[in-house]
Amino acid sequence: MTDRPARPALSVPGIAYGGDYNPEQWPEETWAEDMRLMREAGVNLVSVGIFAWALLEPAEGAYDFTHLDRLLDLLHTHGIAADLATPTAAPPAWFFRAHPEALPVDQDGRRLWYGSRQTFCPSSPAYREAAVRIAGALGERYAGHPAVVMWHVHNEYGCHNLACYCDTSAAAFRDWLRERYDSLDTLNDAWGTAFWSQRLSDWDEVIPPRATGAQPNPAHLLDWRRFCSDELLSLYRAEREVLRAASPDLPATTNFMVMSGSDKLDYWRWAPESDVVSNDHYLMSPDPEAELDIALSGDLTRSMAGGPWFLMEHSTGAVNWQPVNRPKKPGELRRNALAHLAHGADGIAYFQWRQSRAGAEQWHSAMLPHAGTDSRIWRDVVELGADLRALAEVRGSTTPAEVAIVWDWNARWALELPGGPSEEVRFEDRVRAWYEPLWRAGVAVDFVLPDADLSAYRLVLVPSLYLVDDAGAVNLTGFAERGGTLAVGFHSGQVDENCRVRLGGYPGAFREALGVRADELRPLLPGETLPLSGGGTASLWTERLALAGATAVAWYTEGDLTGVPAVTRHTYGRGTTWYVATSPDPATLASLLTCVREEAGVAPVRAVPRGVEAVLRRSAAADYLFLIDHAGAGAEVTVAEDAVELLTGERAPGSVTLAPGGIAVVREPRRPSA
Ligand code: GAL
Repeated sequence: MTDRPARPALSVPGIAYGGDYNPEQWPEETWAEDMRLMREAGVNLVSVGIFAWALLEPAEGAYDFTHLDRLLDLLHTHGIAADLATPTAAPPAWFFRAHPEALPVDQDGRRLWYGSRQTFCPSSPAYREAAVRIAGALGERYAGHPAVVMWHVHNEYGCHNLACYCDTSAAAFRDWLRERYDSLDTLNDAWGTAFWSQRLSDWDEVIPPRATGAQPNPAHLLDWRRFCSDELLSLYRAEREVLRAASPDLPATTNFMVMSGSDKLDYWRWAPESDVVSNDHYLMSPDPEAELDIALSGDLTRSMAGGPWFLMEHSTGAVNWQPVNRPKKPGELRRNALAHLAHGADGIAYFQWRQSRAGAEQWHSAMLPHAGTDSRIWRDVVELGADLRALAEVRGSTTPAEVAIVWDWNARWALELPGGPSEEVRFEDRVRAWYEPLWRAGVAVDFVLPDADLSAYRLVLVPSLYLVDDAGAVNLTGFAERGGTLAVGFHSGQVDENCRVRLGGYPGAFREALGVRADELRPLLPGETLPLSGGGTASLWTERLALAGATAVAWYTEGDLTGVPAVTRHTYGRGTTWYVATSPDPATLASLLTCVREEAGVAPVRAVPRGVEAVLRRSAAADYLFLIDHAGAGAEVTVAEDAVELLTGERAPGSVTLAPGGIAVVREPRRPSA
């Protein structure tokens, strides 16, 4: 978890509930109905103005705030707070006609056109100036408005325009590299440009990784990813600064996308810059266990926030950007929202309030569907509002965890660059595979960077950390040396921060602490498996691994690697290290990680039947136990004698019954000794 200095907080009482509200898409007659229905649903916070730039500034420098003035006043009259956005994710057409050079250029050198959203070059001075100007104008006008409780800066930075490859971006990339490396010699060394005659003799020779005929240089690509994340971060900071100057007491946020396959930004660098950390989460249709993704996403966001966070967007039903867009199953809207809450969200919001009639997202679900209030979604939305009111006291509570999982976007980017041993090895898959058994068992998990303070943990898991710098490696191995339990997954510790291989055998930086050494990596083909001693199978990856102090826990029983260790355990300093040199099948990995966890002395928050998610949030006075039945079988769970189930408000002396697909949130008072 990150330690965060005190920041302005969101001042909405209880759990914030609402969504993106885009009334500019509708005639003003609908607004009164919106207010009435928002109140009926218990909505207390909406994000406004996200895509309203063309309305607010119809021509360069000419503002028209009449619409927003009326809207904010109306919201305030109805007791609904506003998270006021800067509209900078969708510059108007006039901007691009005046500044065509601000349109982004793709890797092949094609300049894109306006006509959608987020189509601008992140390094464009004209864009930056226009964005800061409209943010400043909003700050000045609305800083003291009683409805405005938070600034929503931009929208999902980098969602559609992570990178631009134009000459302006090239110049900005050079500046970023100069800052990082100081001299061209250092850059040449870091990038290993002796290879393929890539030596750079003038800063002007440095270009973005534009399309090339053969494989690009991995270190070049990696620095480009870092630059792209930082470049957008500097845009966020620029807007936030003018807003902060206008209203030092209002929190600023911007919505992250930490999961759903998103590997765009290094959010560890963004989180400390957000007063309130917000995240967006959408279900991916083919994912049969979306609840696992929600849990991981929530824990990751909570860890970056160092405590409660805000779910800025998710969906009430189908999205419209997957090949087939499926609605949610009965009860899923409620389970999803309360799972985010269980994993630390203090606010639950949707894209969007009223389902659009026109435009690119007319088939995306919303809180108020095309069908109106006589609809399943609306009834669910109203019921969820009541649930959230019943859970108001949960706000601010945190999550005690004794297990940390290392998650580093640098390691992810480096792992997934072209030219590695196997394209089948994906960072998110690896982390999810290790996270899953802990989640299933009801074990609380934090996510951390490799160099985080690990003193609060008993167990640190490193499912995938291809890249690690020396400080990170020393921190992780030192944790074991001082008595902790460290488990490391294959292909970790292999390269330094510049993607240079750590020599002498694998897994590079962790060899000594793990007491093993491999001289050859042998990834498996898709579908290929090898049997493991003790049952189970290995897939994806193997190594010619030799013991160098460790003990083999499992080994291959067939093929060229018969007898070669696949899983090892080692006593290192005062602690224990484990190496998982392959991808065991899920059941084998689950029993292995259960064994590692139990040996480390980490217990689940509560014993629950399979398919029931158990998550704990803790305040000074009480524990809040969230129980969610994903299996649909119902369950009986043991709770404290003086427990109260908050959703029903009923006492639950000693046990609580979950209906099939149901949810319980149980308050258990904390004993003085707890
Ligand atoms: C998000 C975006 C929203 C909306 C939503 C649809 O990525 O921030 O504006 O487009 O997706 O799922």
